[in-house]
Amino acid sequence: MDQPPLTKKVFFVMGTRPEAIKLAPAVEAARRHGSLTALLVSTSQHREMLRQALAPFGLTPDIDLDVMTANQTPARVAAEVLRRLEPHLERERPAWTVVQGDTTTALAAAWGSFYAGVPVAHVEAGLRSGRMDSPFPEEFNRKGVAVAASLHFAPTERARRHLLAEGAPDESIHVVGNTIVDAVHRIHAAGTPSGEAGGRTLVLVTLHRRESFGEPVRRVLEAIRELAREREGSVRIVYPVHPNPSVDRPAREILGGVPGVDLHPPLDYPDFLALFSRARLVLSDSGGVQEEAPSLGVPVLILRDVTERPEVVESGWGKLVGTDADLILAESRRLLDDETAWKAMTSGPNPFGDGKSGERIAELLATRP
Ligand code: UD1
Ligand code: UDP
Repeated sequence: MDQPPLTKKVFFVMGTRPEAIKLAPAVEAARRHGSLTALLVSTSQHREMLRQALAPFGLTPDIDLDVMTANQTPARVAAEVLRRLEPHLERERPAWTVVQGDTTTALAAAWGSFYAGVPVAHVEAGLRSGRMDSPFPEEFNRKGVAVAASLHFAPTERARRHLLAEGAPDESIHVVGNTIVDAVHRIHAAGTPSGEAGGRTLVLVTLHRRESFGEPVRRVLEAIRELAREREGSVRIVYPVHPNPSVDRPAREILGGVPGVDLHPPLDYPDFLALFSRARLVLSDSGGVQEEAPSLGVPVLILRDVTERPEVVESGWGKLVGTDADLILAESRRLLDDETAWKAMTSGPNPFGDGKSGERIAELLATRP
């Protein structure tokens, strides 16, 4: 009698837009792999944005924990994920729980899996800013995940060194690149980037970090308003606004109706990448956007004081400008006006990977005991 094939069941747990985008290539590779059964578990820490991010990959959740509430706190998200994930872990007994990055979903799913005796694998392991307050609470979250994980998929050699320094065993760490490069290759049909948008130069903006809420967010938005004012008619600023009320409200207040600024709801990933690739520059505090910049050939001014992705600065593609309005304006003007400065930022290598990270992750999940 034929035996059913013996496959390892794997929970891919995700909650937010970037986790969906960065885990999708690993889920797809796991589904192509003969010896894995991939279950997609959504915490719905983000509700609309998670579905929106999964859609272009043709993925839908197998299990949905449905935790999102308006204006939620990380504590509530963590508590609900812990409580609602447990019965699924007990029922399915997966061989691995795979989490990604540094969100509260990643930490709570890793913590809950550890309690349930389910081994944890961490995608994008080993990023460190060296500051617990920035990004907040992500530095704490990713350190916590590393403690629970027994398999670490580091995107770069530097990330691997951080994990070794914190005592992770050498054989548990694998440098596989960042799955975001796979995602960009999969979704974005590469074309020649051009900074032009209907006769105007395109500037893209995203903003959402928790440590910037309040005055820093307002300073950034006021700098963008000033840039729009002085470049009216020649620059078009496109800003898909994150739905978190702490940024959505001030964004509408400060930039609503300003000529030259297009405020949008979050864009579908293919549309966002298409716009991104045509931008002259991007102003962003996003982790994913920093990593996509080299793939798309566009420089990024990073709206943070520190980055856990120093590779983007070292390779030339990114520059830290923080939330200081004068610095944001000065560096934006330089990239808009000075061709030599723009070229200097857009000629380095891509430090984040080769687009084959998902395959490596699937193979390691299948072969590691
Ligand atoms: C979260 C992550 C952050 C990640 C970011 C990606 C934590 C603590 N933060 O921050 O690391 O960089 O996602 O975007 O894990 N909302 C909606 N619809 C959605 C999504 C969010 O309305 O689809 C609104 C809700 O009011 C929600 C709020 O945004 O309460 C905040 O969401 P939350 O996930 O807690 O924080 P983010 O700022 O999105
Ligand atoms: N993104 C998107 N639509 C948008 C804005 C961003 O698809 O309107 C994508 C972007 O390309 C990147 C990811 O969302 O892959 C980044 O997510 P976010 O900035 O929310 O989180 P972070 O990366 O900072 O954790």
